Amino acid sequence: MKSRYDSAKDVFVDSVDFDDYIELESSVKAYKQLEHSLDKPLKMILVFGKPGTGKSILLNRIEEKLKAEKEIYYFETPSINEKEFFHKLFKVLTKEDLPKNAEVNFSTLVDFCKNLRGKREIIILLDEAQMYGADMMEKIRLISDTRSVKFIVSLHKTDDEDLIAKEHFQSRIWEVIELKNATKDEQAAYIHKKLLKRNLFEIANSFKDKNMKLIHEFTKGNFRECNKLLFTIFEICQYYDENEPHKINYDKISNKIIEMSALKLGYIDV
Ligand SMILES: Nc1ncnc2c1ncn2[C@@H]1O[C@H](COP(=O)(O)OP(=O)(O)OP(=O)(O)O)[C@@H](O)[C@H]1O
Ligand SMILES: [Mg+2]
Repeated sequence: MKSRYDSAKDVFVDSVDFDDYIELESSVKAYKQLEHSLDKPLKMILVFGKPGTGKSILLNRIEEKLKAEKEIYYFETPSINEKEFFHKLFKVLTKEDLPKNAEVNFSTLVDFCKNLRGKREIIILLDEAQMYGADMMEKIRLISDTRSVKFIVSLHKTDDEDLIAKEHFQSRIWEVIELKNATKDEQAAYIHKKLLKRNLFEIANSFKDKNMKLIHEFTKGNFRECNKLLFTIFEICQYYDENEPHKINYDKISNKIIEMSALKLGYIDV
């Protein structure tokens, strides 16, 4: 028999799918800010935040929402080199299938963009842009200077390197949108809403405030860590459900199970 926790586990598989997007106070704020920035005559918009704070899902969401009315393209993985990037960009701009080995020269690309000015307005979403070097970013900026292509650049911030402090992000052409880890209340809303979206009412209700508090302590409100922890919690619940159902309280999740999950994921030591 399929355990009731099986579908709950599914809810927290880490994926970036705009269908799973949850409207939270901070994510709605970031979304609106992004939408508003796109309406300004800005060329470069920076979305940044630590890994797992929802940058990719935000870009996916904006693409999905705007694609009916705007020319918007999502570049998920950074190109391995300039050549590949220009090739990809040129293909998007010309809407033509270029031969794979065709060389796209940078100045040709810039000229092409200049010609598009006033005719088309293209938005490129560049995810994982920390992988692009300063040289590339400079060229991307030059392309945006033509004003026919706007870039939304997503960067992840690591503890040891403050990318935003780098010179090329300091100039005034950038508008910055920062994504942060969720607060305890927001994370609780995230967990509840995700479960309710799949009609898992009882399971959603079994998470009480003290559970949410503990989950927030372990994950610091990071969405990816939260997904991992919840997945593990339901894995353990599933085990009890199938093997020792008398040990589980279906109305209230025990903090013990949350601690066991944290242990399993290495958040705490024995
Ligand atoms: N508002 C939201 N609604 C639904 N899911 C979200 C939301 N924010 C974050 N998530 C989920 O959290 C996880 C991490 O989000 P995402 O992959 O977008 O983070 P990221 O900032 O792009 O991380 P990285 O820097 O590692 O690429 C994903 O599974 C995503 O679905
Ligand atoms: Mg990402």
